[in-house]
Amino acid sequence: MAKIVVLTAHPYPDRSRAHRVLVDAIRDLPDVDVRSLYGRYPDFDIDVAAEQAALESASLVVWLHPIFWYGVPSLLKHWFDQVLTNGWAHGKGGRALAGKDCLWVVTTGGDGESYSEKGRHERPFTDYMPPIEHTARYCGMKWLEPHVLHGAHKVDDGVIADAAARLRAQLAG
Ligand SMILES: Cc1cc2nc3c(=O)[nH]c(=O)nc-3n(C[C@H](O)[C@H](O)[C@H](O)COP(=O)(O)O)c2cc1C
Repeated sequence: MAKIVVLTAHPYPDRSRAHRVLVDAIRDLPDVDVRSLYGRYPDFDIDVAAEQAALESASLVVWLHPIFWYGVPSLLKHWFDQVLTNGWAHGKGGRALAGKDCLWVVTTGGDGESYSEKGRHERPFTDYMPPIEHTARYCGMKWLEPHVLHGAHKVDDGVIADAAARLRAQLAG
């Protein structure tokens, strides 16, 4: 069983610019289980037992996805709803994820400037993080400093390559 479980959620990976590079950078690492949610569950019919079993031996859980409407793509939200169950991930006896690290790796269409008071999104990006951060914390996970790649459509290839290299180095370490 892998020590690092990476849940990837991109509904159109073949059309992705950034997400694809990030995933390709970590796919071959030892002890890393990269699980494409849209690949596994195109009908949203999540195998909850398999997902929970994959997580149990992990010390690090990674959520890797593009930001959609200031949140996670719908299948990752459905995964939260289905997999992070009361009595398993939280609530009475729900300690399965407690003490594990959680790393959020997210790409955005908006650039850094757009996530400011005067920008299109009117708020810093950190204002949009709490629901995701607290999903992890509610399950007792330790929230690591997220990887945020802004402007995924327009940054140079080198910026994406650097972000991928940083992610790989962190997971390899
Ligand atoms: C349905 C949908 C909703 C989106 N919502 C946001 C958003 O709220 N904020 C943002 O910055 N980008 C948003 N985007 C842009 C995506 O985050 C962006 O296309 C993605 O991060 C680019 O990565 P990729 O090249 O791997 O697809 C949205 C895109 C789609 C398709």
